[in-house]
Amino acid sequence: MEFSIKSTSPDKQRTACIVVGVHESRKLSPAATQIDQQADGYLTDILRHGDMDGRLGSTCVLHKVPGTICERVLLVGLGRERDMNEKSYLDACHATLKALAASGATDAVIYTIQTSVKGRNLAWNIEQLVIAAEASQYQPGKLKSKQDKSPSKLRKLTLGIGDRAQQASAETAMAQGLAIGAGMSLAKMLGDLPGNVCTPTYLAGQAQALAKSHKLKCEVLDKKGIEKLGMGSFLSVAKGSRQPPKLVVLHHNGGKKSDKPVVLVGKGITFDAGGISLKPAAEMDEMKYDMCGAASVLGTLRAIAEMKLPLNVIGVIPTCENLPDGDANKPGDIVTSMSGQTIEILNTDAEGRLILCDALTYSERFEPAAVIDIATLTGACVIALGHHATGMFSNHNGLAQEIEHAATASQDRVWRLPLWDDYQQQLDSNFADIANIGGRAGGSITAACFLSRFTKKYDWAHLDIAGTAWKSGKDKGSTGRPVPLLVHFLMNRASRAK
Ligand code: BES
Ligand code: MN
Ligand code: ZN
Repeated sequence: MEFSIKSTSPDKQRTACIVVGVHESRKLSPAATQIDQQADGYLTDILRHGDMDGRLGSTCVLHKVPGTICERVLLVGLGRERDMNEKSYLDACHATLKALAASGATDAVIYTIQTSVKGRNLAWNIEQLVIAAEASQYQPGKLKSKQDKSPSKLRKLTLGIGDRAQQASAETAMAQGLAIGAGMSLAKMLGDLPGNVCTPTYLAGQAQALAKSHKLKCEVLDKKGIEKLGMGSFLSVAKGSRQPPKLVVLHHNGGKKSDKPVVLVGKGITFDAGGISLKPAAEMDEMKYDMCGAASVLGTLRAIAEMKLPLNVIGVIPTCENLPDGDANKPGDIVTSMSGQTIEILNTDAEGRLILCDALTYSERFEPAAVIDIATLTGACVIALGHHATGMFSNHNGLAQEIEHAATASQDRVWRLPLWDDYQQQLDSNFADIANIGGRAGGSITAACFLSRFTKKYDWAHLDIAGTAWKSGKDKGSTGRPVPLLVHFLMNRASRAK
């Protein structure tokens, strides 16, 4: 999709479709009022006749409105003016894009970005619309022999702003939206790929391709390199698979050499069958999504590289499969992590923490400003928070608040859960320093407690995206979350550093 920003008034736009808003109780937005005046009250008539009532998310396409110079006018319902918040604005954006895709218009000029949203500004509105437009274009990798539906004809979106003085900030917001949208598409594409395509080797290749196209530094360690680092915990998971493990390290050097980096660590299990503690068959296909943490790290790096964010950011991705095999981990096995701590593996299906703990220890060498890990870590997190909020844990209140702030701004929400010491004893083992599971009670919390044993040397947050990284059922597919959250967090860090 092609985007541009213009401050031309709506009555002077020659386009296939003009998009203007109507509030509930039939109140026209300022742009709609201008069209209505040009059309001699035509829109007011439509509203009076009841064809459109301004209900949030309703739409109405009008062709060849008398007096106007555009082919169509799309009226979009914005709901009650005083209820207009982030969620209703996004609902209106989605309804707009759906109606445009169905309309046959090849281009459109959108004025609804001027809607006033509580606590937000024009830049925020623009960014969100661009992200939604990019998302509406997403198609999973071409693995069907025939396309199921003809793609929308929409090619070009112009965003109509009221004032020339806003041009520069509007263009920045548009560029940010485009970068975040592209990052989300990459994360979605990788997440949706099946496990027989998206193997650890494939994922590492994608990281290298990203590094090449976006001027990042990339290092891929193979099994030998991982052995040299002493990552006994990570390697124990990889042992049960014929696909070799990889450790991917990507650097975005946007800051000064002396600036401490933010490190993002993403879980990259390209398929999780559970290992010897085999998972039940139902919905096991969805465990191809067990690398969505890794995909979000790649998507985020892509976005910030496109934005040329003045910050140093490092992505660390441990990637392998978790399968049952004669050489796989067995319940009761004890392994030694890179940190030197020994781990009793009581359940081979709690493998995410086993690969992450070594990547977290590895991250110490960067003397990080902060480390955030992103992982589809526990089914218990889905039980606790459902599919709306990502579970967040942190050993540092300031960092947790920064993440909460970024989550609200990006509408990619998180909910903080406790990391109290009271839970730590659930991980006691009779035979090793720590067990890899802590029983059914508070399963997401004890998983985070496990990771906390490896993150004592820096400010750290853990994002459990088990409920938010993909959708199940009829709409099965990757969501691209939490790329918007991570990019916002990093943008805020970059502007704070200035
Ligand atoms: N990848 C899964 C977590 C998961 C399961 C995410 C279902 C989304 C949906 C993880 O590796 C896992 O298997 N966790 C176990 C931990 C348990 C054995 C302590 C789980 O959640 O059941
Ligand atoms: Mn598992
Ligand atoms: Zn897993």
